[in-house]
Amino acid sequence: MSSQQSSKVLSNQTNFWRSISGPIIGLSPMDGVTDASFRYITAKYGGPDVTFTEFVNIQAAFHAAHTLIKDLTYCEIERPVVAQIYGRSPDMFYRVSHIVCELGFDGLDVNMGCPAKKVAAAGCGAALIREPELARTIVRAAKRGIKDWCAGQTLGDIQLEPELIEKIRVANRLRTKMDGPSERLPIPVSVKTRLGYDRIVVEDWMATLLEENPAAISLHGRTLQQGYKGNADWEAIGRAVEVGKGSETLILGNGDLQDMTQVQRRVRETQVDGVLLGRVAQGNPWIFRAKHQVKRALAENRDPSILSVPVTLEERFRVISEHSSHHALQAPGENFVGIRKHLTWYCRGFRGAAEMRSQMVRVKTAEDVRQCLLNFTFQSTEAERRTNGWHEDPAAIVTPERRV
Ligand SMILES: Cc1cc2nc3c(=O)[nH]c(=O)nc-3n(C[C@H](O)[C@H](O)[C@H](O)COP(=O)(O)O)c2cc1C
Repeated sequence: MSSQQSSKVLSNQTNFWRSISGPIIGLSPMDGVTDASFRYITAKYGGPDVTFTEFVNIQAAFHAAHTLIKDLTYCEIERPVVAQIYGRSPDMFYRVSHIVCELGFDGLDVNMGCPAKKVAAAGCGAALIREPELARTIVRAAKRGIKDWCAGQTLGDIQLEPELIEKIRVANRLRTKMDGPSERLPIPVSVKTRLGYDRIVVEDWMATLLEENPAAISLHGRTLQQGYKGNADWEAIGRAVEVGKGSETLILGNGDLQDMTQVQRRVRETQVDGVLLGRVAQGNPWIFRAKHQVKRALAENRDPSILSVPVTLEERFRVISEHSSHHALQAPGENFVGIRKHLTWYCRGFRGAAEMRSQMVRVKTAEDVRQCLLNFTFQSTEAERRTNGWHEDPAAIVTPERRV
């Protein structure tokens, strides 16, 4: 555990962030990627310390009930799970925090880091870095909303449409068989952001955010203007940690981490309280399995290289099949195309992966995926049989993969 972690003061809030043994190793939110199925699979086969939903537009939260419920669907094994919201209206953040609480999330994260034009041009996401006072007001509004919800304010009290209230109840019942959380507990508010807008202003920006005492600040080591170009600046993240010392806020670093050896090195060098992994987890839910090795090595002050936990082809195929079935069930009747990118991400690092990728971009149903995996397995077994001079009847060979 980093030295400044122990120096941080504990508050009385229900703060799941504090119950995770450090360093926190979480799954970063990714729009179009960290949907309900991907998070379910990552929780089941990897086990990140915390997960975030894709960001949810605050307008959609009130005017597109279907989108809201779809984006905020989660399952219990993902916990702790945080709903990420973007927008720029404090009043709407006040109201949406009621919805997030009512849906039983463990935390609410305000997106102040998205560089996408449609988001930043509307003054949301990373554009808030240029409006520090508004950014502070938003965090305060979200906290106030959570406090008022805990004090008993209902969704009806904040003038939510009855249709949306009913959809929220149904979502809760489907997940827990109850209409809503059994207790009204205050959930923590966190912020995910960048180093600056068009230049690095991380010290000032951190000082501004810390005034509002968020439970955590996740810092992607680039400016808005950089988008995803160049390298994440971990030295600047280290400076942000210095600014946060002595505060109650946990600081998480993010950007370009490729494996757990790098996670360990960055935590040691910068003394962040944790990290978020984004792109490296695409098609690789297993990456989080090695998180315990990182925690142990840091606790024992050792510096070994962390080996990733090996994944057999059998398990890879089983997960591909499960992911596509879950996706089909999660969004029945919806276009299956959305999962194709996930399927191609899984097809890396084994013989025949390129050929399988080219098939996965054409699948239309979970059954197509299953067929694709069976064909691949059959062809590999055949090729091996020819190479080894086997004489068995292929139909009699029951490989585990056949059961995918
Ligand atoms: C496809 C994609 C979608 C993203 N969507 C979000 C988002 O909804 N909210 C957010 O805070 N960050 C989002 N990000 C940023 C990531 O959470 C993360 O900060 C960034 O990818 C750097 O981390 P990495 O190098 O580990 O991927 C997105 C990134 C990608 C690649």
